[in-house]
Amino acid sequence: MKLKDRAAFVTGGASGIGRAIALALAREGARVAVADVNAHGARRVAADIQAAGGVAVAQPLDVTDTTAVDSSIDGVVAHWGGLHVLVNCAGWDKPMPFVETTPEFWDTILAINLRGPLACTRAALRHMIKAEYGKIVTIASDAGRVGSTGEAVYSAAKGGLIAFTKTVAREVARHHINVNCVCPGPSDTPLFQKEFAEKSPRLAESLKRVIPWGRLGVPDDVAPAVVFLASDDAGFITGQTLSVSGGLTMV
Ligand SMILES: NC(=O)c1ccc[n+]([C@@H]2O[C@H](COP(=O)([O-])OP(=O)(O)OC[C@H]3O[C@@H](n4cnc5c(N)ncnc54)[C@H](O)[C@@H]3O)[C@@H](O)[C@H]2O)c1
Repeated sequence: MKLKDRAAFVTGGASGIGRAIALALAREGARVAVADVNAHGARRVAADIQAAGGVAVAQPLDVTDTTAVDSSIDGVVAHWGGLHVLVNCAGWDKPMPFVETTPEFWDTILAINLRGPLACTRAALRHMIKAEYGKIVTIASDAGRVGSTGEAVYSAAKGGLIAFTKTVAREVARHHINVNCVCPGPSDTPLFQKEFAEKSPRLAESLKRVIPWGRLGVPDDVAPAVVFLASDDAGFITGQTLSVSGGLTMV
């Protein structure tokens, strides 16, 4: 097991890619705090991990609430005696042409997709720096690398996460903390179904044609990349951005 007894905090762990990551970290021996604004879903994933013989706790949490982020992460550290892995996976978007977006919408998108990971990263680093050890993996998006029509504000947030990751990686390397990004390409998750496929039924088919691998991603495509970056196998890798997109993006 690559992550035996490590303590991990996974935001957005109740659904889709975050759920797959939480389960995969637990399979590698990590104790996993499943943090999500969907408290019921977080409890269900924690129960799934426990049923498989793993260790997990549910952490009902809205990542846009910085005070709640601090106390949730501090609570996990107090409970498990440390925090070794943070995965920033909570995210959301509603595609629409940029000119139709409003400042209120910008605030919502930036709060969830950019400020949330900032808050979680700061809260985690306060403990990781003291321990001189840590792994932070942020789920950005290929939208933040190459753009994505209908996702301008989300792309700005995700591109911001990539730049943020590189800078923080430089700042904390001397504390032996690795900070990296994983960028999924279009992936079949509840978010994709609700906000993309249901509104544009032909989208999934057209994506399959342009993705060299010939299919959409699935959460289990992304989870092993996160496990790798959260493990000591990736101990000399920091400030990097890894696309998991079936070859759709090669930048
Ligand atoms: N599905 C894709 O095609 C795709 C592509 C690239 C990147 N991503 C990114 O992957 C991540 C996971 O997305 P997914 O497709 O699995 O979506 P999902 O909706 O299945 O899962 C996202 C989870 O985040 C949680 N969440 C949302 N807002 C939150 C908040 N304020 N506080 C705490 N939790 C919150 C949701 O409750 C949900 O459980 C997101 O960061 C998303 O931007 C997804």
